[in-house]
Amino acid sequence: MCGITARVGTDGSLGPLLDSLKRLEYRGYDSAGIAVQNGAGISINKCKGEVSALEDALATVSHDGPIGIGHTRWSTHGSPSDVNAHPHTGNDGRVAAVHNGIIENYVELREELTERGSRFTSETDTEVIPHLVEERLAAGDDPETAFRTAIDRLEGSYAIAVIIDDEPAVYATRNGSPLVIGVGDDARYLASDVPAFLHRTDQVVYLEDDDVVVLTADDHRITDLRGTPITRPIETVDWDPEDAEKGSYDHYMLKEIHEQPMALRQTLHGRIGDDDVDLESFPPGTFEEVDRVRLLACGTSYHAGMYGEWLLSNNGVDANTFIASEYSAYPAPVDESTLVIGVTQSGETADTLEALSAAREQGARTLAVTNVIGSTAARTCDDALFIRAGPEIGVAATKTFSSQVAALVLLTERLVRDMTGEPTTDYETRFDALESLPDHVESVVNGTQAASISQRWLGDSGHFFIGRGGAYSVALEGALKFKEITYEHAEGFAAGELKHGPLALVTPETPVFAVGTGHHQSRLESNVNEIQSRGAPVVVVAPRTATRLVDTADEFLPVPATHPDLVAILANVQLQLIAYHAANEMDRSIDKPRNLAKSVTVE
Ligand code: M6R
Repeated sequence: MCGITARVGTDGSLGPLLDSLKRLEYRGYDSAGIAVQNGAGISINKCKGEVSALEDALATVSHDGPIGIGHTRWSTHGSPSDVNAHPHTGNDGRVAAVHNGIIENYVELREELTERGSRFTSETDTEVIPHLVEERLAAGDDPETAFRTAIDRLEGSYAIAVIIDDEPAVYATRNGSPLVIGVGDDARYLASDVPAFLHRTDQVVYLEDDDVVVLTADDHRITDLRGTPITRPIETVDWDPEDAEKGSYDHYMLKEIHEQPMALRQTLHGRIGDDDVDLESFPPGTFEEVDRVRLLACGTSYHAGMYGEWLLSNNGVDANTFIASEYSAYPAPVDESTLVIGVTQSGETADTLEALSAAREQGARTLAVTNVIGSTAARTCDDALFIRAGPEIGVAATKTFSSQVAALVLLTERLVRDMTGEPTTDYETRFDALESLPDHVESVVNGTQAASISQRWLGDSGHFFIGRGGAYSVALEGALKFKEITYEHAEGFAAGELKHGPLALVTPETPVFAVGTGHHQSRLESNVNEIQSRGAPVVVVAPRTATRLVDTADEFLPVPATHPDLVAILANVQLQLIAYHAANEMDRSIDKPRNLAKSVTVE
């Protein structure tokens, strides 16, 4: 996820664009840049780092102009660097472009443009855009036609804004990525999200896919891809600018729960082939020398690691997960044939980094599964697999858990094939289910009854979560989310372990959430009976096809029927929503729970 913005006014746009980028920084913060045009050419300033680094760089800059575009980046193609930062230009520097999304056919376009003389300087997919526009301008197209012809060549998802050296306008379009116009008294704005300009105007025009916009200081003209004029209403936004960074959501956590379908699409994008996974840096054979796998992680990432361990173990791989902070206390055998996977959203968690470093010293090969390109884990491990979930602001990890698990499902396929010589059992149906996962998550988020169910037992003495196999890690994650943001007692258990002690805690005041996946179903049904006979209410989270389980439930939170290996990911989304709505009712500080930080960089 990245943030794009643009402004056309009659005075300097540099300051307003910088302001907008600060407000869009939650969308990405590994590099930033601005291009301004004053009728006599385009000046670009861009650099790696947060928007504050760009602000420092701009402090000594004297050129300004009324027309400009800006970008704050969350890398998907190419590491964070000055050169990969947006805006990008073509050969002649006549056109500058910013882009949010993924251009799927950029490799073909790049080859084609290179053959015709384009020289590329960055590793980004975005750079093809200014080259395409410049090529059309050189062929004699007027600016709008050149822009239209260029975007006609693009496949993928995008929001794009372009300026041309001698044109008093911004040209923009969207397809699958957000874009909204701000109508000011003396300027027009454009951005990925309203907060970028809400402090300047509350008059907005929401654009739809395939809208093409020409923005000038006192007008915005919208057409479809063929040039037919479109009228979109100007709406008044009644958000408080202070809260608007969260868009229409009350909390970042809720926003991020809702972003999971998009995050998963990005995680999976281009990585599932016809008969195998297609993991950029990990072609078949990459892990042939590996004998065993160890996963190291903390908190939510640890639960994702457990999910990976369960899948690997079920497919014949020697795998174990360790709480990273405990790793040094376990003299686990590790050598050159051990692959140690650090699962870490931020890539900066001190406990995980230290455990990885210890494993490296023992000779292990290390791999980071992380969300942050350029993070310490990504840089210091031998390899990295990026989950591409986009920035997560809420302290409670939500979309990154789903993306971590999806990435581990993909990585499992590569490891199992390389280490055992066979694909995973059922891989074809699991691939199909992975492809449907974003849509399935969408239907859970849109159809959930979690808000009302979460209110039924508020204030009870404890909330318990149970599951078996992959659902055990989700039971732990459901409990972590609940305790983290409600501050209420919550515990996750392996369902079969209840009778070995925890059942003593179960009373009519302890609701139990049972996650049913289709694996070990009859055993879970017995566990549910044990709980209900002690008077505790049971909320079943499962597909409707688990009829016996569903029929016994006191409450039921359905998830779509899919491959049983993936059901727990969907159930986890329901549990995130349970925790969220309970905490919201209790008026907790959901995005910044007490005593906790997003990234724990101390041991
Ligand atoms: O950045 P990491 O994934 O390494 O962070 C590890 C934990 O601190 C983190 O998952 C934490 O448990 C979650 N924020 C809880 O929601």
